[in-house]
Amino acid sequence: MELFSTQTLLLFLSFLTFLYLHNRNPKTRPPGFKAYPLVGSLPDFLLNRHRFLDWTTDVLRNCPTHSAVFRRPGKVHGIITANPDNVEHILKTNFHNYPKGERFNYLLRDFLGQGIFNSDGDLWKLQRKTASYEFNTKSLRNFAIQNVTVEIQTRLIPLLQRASKSESVLDLQDVLERFAFDNICKLAFNVDPACLDGGSGDAAVGAEFMRAFEDAATLSSGRFMSVFGWVWELKKFLNVGSERKLRESICTVHAFADNIIRSRMEAKDPHNDDMDLLSRFMAKEENSPEFLRDIVISFILAGRDTTSSALSWFFWILSSRPDVKDKIIKEIETVRASCEKRDYGEASFGYEELKELKYLHAAITESMRLYPPVHVDTMACLNDDVLPDGTGIKKNWFVTYHTYAMGRMESIWGSDCVEFKPERWFDEEGGVFRTESPFRYPVFHAGARMCLGKEMAYIQMKSIVAAAMERFEIDAVDKDTCPEQHMSLTLRIKGGLPVRVRPRECVMSTA
Ligand code: HEM
Repeated sequence: MELFSTQTLLLFLSFLTFLYLHNRNPKTRPPGFKAYPLVGSLPDFLLNRHRFLDWTTDVLRNCPTHSAVFRRPGKVHGIITANPDNVEHILKTNFHNYPKGERFNYLLRDFLGQGIFNSDGDLWKLQRKTASYEFNTKSLRNFAIQNVTVEIQTRLIPLLQRASKSESVLDLQDVLERFAFDNICKLAFNVDPACLDGGSGDAAVGAEFMRAFEDAATLSSGRFMSVFGWVWELKKFLNVGSERKLRESICTVHAFADNIIRSRMEAKDPHNDDMDLLSRFMAKEENSPEFLRDIVISFILAGRDTTSSALSWFFWILSSRPDVKDKIIKEIETVRASCEKRDYGEASFGYEELKELKYLHAAITESMRLYPPVHVDTMACLNDDVLPDGTGIKKNWFVTYHTYAMGRMESIWGSDCVEFKPERWFDEEGGVFRTESPFRYPVFHAGARMCLGKEMAYIQMKSIVAAAMERFEIDAVDKDTCPEQHMSLTLRIKGGLPVRVRPRECVMSTA
């Protein structure tokens, strides 16, 4: 019996080895993810987890329709696609068949509750309706511009000035994350956590909140990458390891948010009416304090490191592209020269001026094509379906559209798809910005759940870049090496982005 087991085991191992060697040979390897008996694509997933995005991009590139079936143990099956027709089908044409779904909801429920990112059906619709109305108001846009301007003028520029004087190396990703966190908290609650302002009295509380938020987001997204789902569930049950840390982080985040909601409810502060997002949702009396908390946490997540992720990669790319830098600076100087009256002080640009920064807009858009902040996005399949490229999908499978891979597909962007080329966003004559179908460029998602903060995000990103580049030369210390990726809910740079800051020589106005 024992001998039989040993022989069976040896046979099985030989079979696996054969499959492994067969699949390693590019000539004999069938397209798609390699699937082994019992373990599915797990061996390759483990081998490539550290370079998940590039690995999956390579696989999809070699598939005829850029879609592939992915199988993991524990009946986790699904499709990963970089095909625009499939993306349109999932996000628009057959939207009702592809909700976030139970698995996604379950993995993020502890952190996000029933907030807009983590809900489907009526709960989602209700939040979407209120939020879309509010996001379109001029008053919210003005509030956003005003907040960005104050943060740039009173914190960002002084910080960059200090770094340039001391000639020290600065972690720009960290600076951008602090900026975005202060900014989104102002917009969401009208509370200033002062994370970018190391010297302020409230900074320690704000910094603790930010750190806890960061941990909660990273540890929650880690659940998606866990090889066996029961491992994190057991850790949660025993309250040990990463799940213990997650619980503690979530407690800190909830306590901070609850505090603000409670004091706002008690104060009924007329000065906050109509200003931030919280007061707009509080106007609906049926919203419970817990639901308000979930809503606010989702908005912070949305605004927190999407823009900082986008700009970190942008500044890294720009460090080795002096030609693009020069064009951006020339445009900033032209727009600066043409503005007689500034809306919000010297440091930043008003809404109309930001609109004129078209080349900058294209450069940021191009950078997000190659390094999309939300690198992949996953939905669940409610009923069996066939995607437009002919790929069959079963009930309860997941479907992931791969935004990072889509930015690197020749079939979408042509043979120069991996080149950073802001010019590709203009028409033949070079003057008019060419909008792209959101199904080919799903950086802000598409269809019914498309990002509500897109305009706000561009306002923030363009303001930061224009104010910083007008005054400083910012160069990545290691500009020739592509930084390692860190996959949280957004795509970040592992270990941060060390930069050197120097004053720019030709500055038309100083802060
Ligand atoms: C570069 C910056 C940004 C990028 C690339 C981005 C991208 C996205 C993506 C891919 C989604 C879909 C996520 C999902 O499936 O759940 C999304 C949704 C959303 N975004 Fe953004 N976002 C950015 C900035 C912002 C900002 C600054 C805000 C708000 C202040 C915001 C608010 C939202 C909201 C509320 C949703 C949920 C929409 C819904 O489910 O109906 N985003 N965004």
